Amino acid sequence: MNRPALYITRLLPPPVIEAIPRHYRLLTGPSDEPPTATELRQGFREADAVICTLSDRIDASLLSHTTRLKIIANYAVGYNNIDVAAAAQRGIAVTNTPDVLTEATADLTWALLLSVSRRVVEGDAWVRTATWPGWRPTQMLGAEVSGKTLGIIGMGRIGQAVARRAVGFGMPVIYAGRRSIVSPPGVTWVSRSLPEVLAESDFLSLHVPLTQATQHLIGPQELATMKPTAFLLNTSRGPVLDEAALVSALEAGTIAGAGLDVYEHEPVVTAALRGLPNVVLLPHLGSATLETRVRMGLVCLNNIAAVLEGGTAPNQVR
Ligand code: DGY
Repeated sequence: MNRPALYITRLLPPPVIEAIPRHYRLLTGPSDEPPTATELRQGFREADAVICTLSDRIDASLLSHTTRLKIIANYAVGYNNIDVAAAAQRGIAVTNTPDVLTEATADLTWALLLSVSRRVVEGDAWVRTATWPGWRPTQMLGAEVSGKTLGIIGMGRIGQAVARRAVGFGMPVIYAGRRSIVSPPGVTWVSRSLPEVLAESDFLSLHVPLTQATQHLIGPQELATMKPTAFLLNTSRGPVLDEAALVSALEAGTIAGAGLDVYEHEPVVTAALRGLPNVVLLPHLGSATLETRVRMGLVCLNNIAAVLEGGTAPNQVR
């Protein structure tokens, strides 16, 4: 049987790779390294289906090289890396991986929240130097988490999953966004304007997709509205936050600290940001659990199967 050609821009976890040969002919052995422009063009030219990642830029120029491509399955929930309109013009479906990474990303948001407020990374680094002199009442005092107000900007799946975890910490949740959300039993999530959420949050977490409207949603003015004791968390997309403005705000004490998993110019993280003591910086780990990354791959394969069989992909975007 002539199996459809599948191009994968990056190595995926073993259970996903192992599932491929049953149904597809894999073009090139996938590599952990980003493809070169030439490799990307070749893959897109020869494939019936592509699985790509959030750091592959899929624009109209690249798509002009396609000859038989039916579907681009983005291995991410965010798809700001793909020119969806250009794909649609060529009749190429674009899909993403919603739901399966919600809980992992929400967990990681809380890891950042707790790490930056309780100085977990600093403390670990200190102990490793073997210079910790022992417990002292005034040592490494952080900020209390329990009972503080959690603000969410972008109350979609991940924003809500982050908010649900606040119950265990006795934290009231306020949120900004267009949608009216039904709070879980026993708690009330309060809808507020963006300026109110900025001004009232002790922890502010960003969960909007990156679009033209959300680029630099949080800039100098918004940061100036926040409490000097507040912490900002970003596990969405780097450009949602004006990184230079954030550095200035952190240096000036406009806000207390930040926990970041994403950056404006990934994978570049500026020296200014890396030099700050009041930030925790992670290498885009939001969905990085084995279970989640396997599920994401299987979602991609499921979408591909649907489209190549002539149907509509369950996770087609727009
Ligand atoms: C996504 O799916 O958009 C995440 O950023 C991947 O970790």
